[in-house]
Amino acid sequence: MLERLFAKELVRQEVSQERFIRIPEEVREVYVRLGRPTPLARARRLEEALNTPAKIYYKYEGVSPTGSHKSNTATAQVYYNMMQGVERVVTETGAGQWGSALALAGAMFGVKVRVYMTRSSYLQKPYRRVLMMLYGAEVYPSPSDRTEVGRKFLAEDPQHPGSLGIAISEAIEDVLRDEGARYCLGSVLNHVLLHQTVIGLEAKKQMELLGDYPDIVVGCVGGGSNFAGLAYPFMEDRLKGKAETRFIAAEPRASPTMTRGIYTYDYGDTGRLTPLLKMHTVGHSYKVPPIHAGGLRYHGVAPTISILLNHGYVEARAYHQSEVFAAARLFAETEGIVVAPETAHAVKAVVDLAREAKRAGEPVTILFNLSGHGLLDLKGYEDYLEGRLEDYEPRKLALDARP
Ligand SMILES: Cc1ncc(COP(=O)(O)O)c(C=O)c1O
Repeated sequence: MLERLFAKELVRQEVSQERFIRIPEEVREVYVRLGRPTPLARARRLEEALNTPAKIYYKYEGVSPTGSHKSNTATAQVYYNMMQGVERVVTETGAGQWGSALALAGAMFGVKVRVYMTRSSYLQKPYRRVLMMLYGAEVYPSPSDRTEVGRKFLAEDPQHPGSLGIAISEAIEDVLRDEGARYCLGSVLNHVLLHQTVIGLEAKKQMELLGDYPDIVVGCVGGGSNFAGLAYPFMEDRLKGKAETRFIAAEPRASPTMTRGIYTYDYGDTGRLTPLLKMHTVGHSYKVPPIHAGGLRYHGVAPTISILLNHGYVEARAYHQSEVFAAARLFAETEGIVVAPETAHAVKAVVDLAREAKRAGEPVTILFNLSGHGLLDLKGYEDYLEGRLEDYEPRKLALDARP
């Protein structure tokens, strides 16, 4: 069944028991063209501004042409689909970072791309839609009238803001109608997280060159791919008892999958078309408020992160968007980089950890994933500067419809 949805090689990787899977030469070539290895930098001016004894490093994934880590898996996924002779790949996107990365990968390997973009982001982030179209992709706001699932949600609410869960259902329904098409997912699944570990593998070597090693690794979590990508190569050392690194995962309070969700089997999509995944979830029908961090508006979290969370290897923290944007503003003022609203959650966690280090007088080494820049997310920053940001309390979990 999975092979009807995904390229065969990706299914093989999804269930692989191998510790390492080689990156094909053609994918490595594209990685180099898209800016890999990405820089690892020390945020000295932020450290000074916080007057903290902590050292703060960040791995900068915003150097890729579309501005985020998503190209790492988009390149690999489209490559395996191309090798299998797939004509079109279909996907969903929230903020548009994933959709634009897939659109670019499609252009690189000559595979058509179709994207269902959550309506709230489609309206808030018109430039990402333009970017996808520029790379030759078709883009539809989700819920759309192109699928049964989409029509059902539009009938309930013609102005439905959409969600990643609904857009995933639409993309899958689209693929099931077209034998020449396969589905690509931008996060959550094992093979996606696997492709992202190129980030942590590079970071480990870069830290080694600097003669340093992180006491704390931080990332924001939507489905979990950038966090896992940076964290897992270091997690290997922790699991083997070689290091005592802490792993902090940051999420929005409006979509609190790790801090308030429960650990159970749930669908990956709102339309209940995917196989069940054992994960921390707020429920597949949870209506995530329209926060600016569109890429974090997901009801679940990767099964492998969920199990690590459940065993205490990962600690989660949740934030309101106003405090997140304030931390991002401090980062922009000190380090010059305007981070994506998703990444801003990681920055907020780092600022808090650096302040905690100051109170405790501990010179800890913090490494975080700067998963993307926010230069196409300035609408969110404008709302922040003009005091228009709304903070949403978590809603009641939508687990009543769980299987
Ligand atoms: C810049 C950025 N960071 C983080 C995320 C969250 O996704 P994930 O948890 O899979 O890294 C997204 C998703 O769109 C993103 O665009």
